[in-house]
Amino acid sequence: MESVFRPRRLRRSVTLRRMVQETRLRREDLILPMFVAPGKGVRQEVPSMPGVSRLSVENLAEEAKAAADLGIPAVLLFGLPQKKDETGSEAASPKGAVQQAVRQLKKQIPNLVVITDVCLCGYTSHGHCGLLRPGGEVDNDATLEVLAQVAVSHAQAGADIVAPSDMMDGRVGAIREALDEVGLEMTAILSYAVKYASSFYGPFRDAAESAPQFGDRRAYQMDPANAREAMREAFLDVEEGADIIMVKPALPYLDILTRLRPEFDLPLAAYQVSGEYSMIKAAAQKGWLDENAVMLESLTSIKRAGADLILTYFAKEAAQLLGK
Ligand code: PBG
Repeated sequence: MESVFRPRRLRRSVTLRRMVQETRLRREDLILPMFVAPGKGVRQEVPSMPGVSRLSVENLAEEAKAAADLGIPAVLLFGLPQKKDETGSEAASPKGAVQQAVRQLKKQIPNLVVITDVCLCGYTSHGHCGLLRPGGEVDNDATLEVLAQVAVSHAQAGADIVAPSDMMDGRVGAIREALDEVGLEMTAILSYAVKYASSFYGPFRDAAESAPQFGDRRAYQMDPANAREAMREAFLDVEEGADIIMVKPALPYLDILTRLRPEFDLPLAAYQVSGEYSMIKAAAQKGWLDENAVMLESLTSIKRAGADLILTYFAKEAAQLLGK
């Protein structure tokens, strides 16, 4: 053995390994997505996402408090409506589940950053992320107005950050303008800038009851085969005023994170989506994988690839393992 350099020298002890560790996952990196249901006393476990429940406001506040106590700085709220209709009209209602939840969280846990998902798919009877033309095509520009109203209603309730996930062209600009117009220029925008038309969203659509009733989302979400296009999508959102940009899903798209990272100086987020979560949960339940180890490895990989922030349904478990 002639080699002068022996990488194993620095792997000999826990302490040495800790000293030379390049990527450190912190509790501050994590954002917990949560589902808000209308009504009272609701706690319905989502069958395809063990450990995740739809919660009414008071139960949500309790869970969010537990997350905050574990050192998680932020939650992302998805709402379920009382009633769906063609235009998703409940999405912008000040009495909606999300708007009520935001008010409650900001009152009860003022230091917790509250992010809201801005989209229509959970609120429309057809399950698409925008308004439909008579032929069934999603009408981009008509949708922008509605999305802007939804974002304003969330911000007026007190959301710190609004997060549009619809993938309409121009929505970040439309939302920024609408927020500024009503004096909400300090509400930040986390844009789902690079969102792929992914089959990994399957379990989420059970949770949010948001599966499209016909067709799919390929006419607005990105083709999983495209990487160069990710750069263009991100540039557009940054030009329109995004404060944080996101890539979604995470683990199957680490190359996209790595490409974007050096091109942008904004914080970069990644969303470990429902399917990524449920795969690990299911394998662990079968005893085929070590859940905690795989969870931390996947989150570390997402950070190593370039993400500053990670949205993950594992946030609480991970924060517990990471400790102070
Ligand atoms: C809504 C939205 C989706 C997700 C986040 N926001 C589903 C979709 O686009 O169909 C997916 C999140 C997850 O799978 O965890 N547009």
